[in-house]
Amino acid sequence: MTEQPVVRVLFVCLGNICRSPTAHGVFRAKVREQGLQQRVQIDSCGTGDWHIGHPPDERATAEAAARGYDIGDLRARQVQATDFRDYDYILAMDEQNLADLRALCPDDYPGYLGLFLPFDPAASVTEVPDPYYGGEEGFALVLDMVEAASDGLLREICSADTAR
Ligand code: 4NP
Repeated sequence: MTEQPVVRVLFVCLGNICRSPTAHGVFRAKVREQGLQQRVQIDSCGTGDWHIGHPPDERATAEAAARGYDIGDLRARQVQATDFRDYDYILAMDEQNLADLRALCPDDYPGYLGLFLPFDPAASVTEVPDPYYGGEEGFALVLDMVEAASDGLLREICSADTAR
């Protein structure tokens, strides 16, 4: 039996304290639920450097905890050139994040660089809105979007596996 490859997923937003750590924590929990934690590696980062080393925003941590996800262990970091070597999927939360990533991405990057939300086939928009300057409801919306897109991403990764 051939060993199945590890799939490496990197979630990216601006500050790495609201949206991408939420995606990181939610997707991590779903991967663990399926017993796939040896097969799927996950990280998150920001395009900006303001919050390097910081834990997620308290509002993101609280909304995640209310839905059973612990993201308190995560710490922000900035995207780096080696990410394009180390990750198979680099998934941006919004178009600005994606444009910033494209500017850094080598022409011969062999992985998938794109928006995260379209992995939810039912999504009516393509971007996860930045909740940082808004109220709690923005964080709840991020959770709704991220949970649905995480399910779709995991389905895609699992179906790519069986096709091999
Ligand atoms: P995130 O949200 O990109 O979802 O982590 C933000 C966090 C911090 C800032 C902007 C957006 N900021 O300007 O510091």
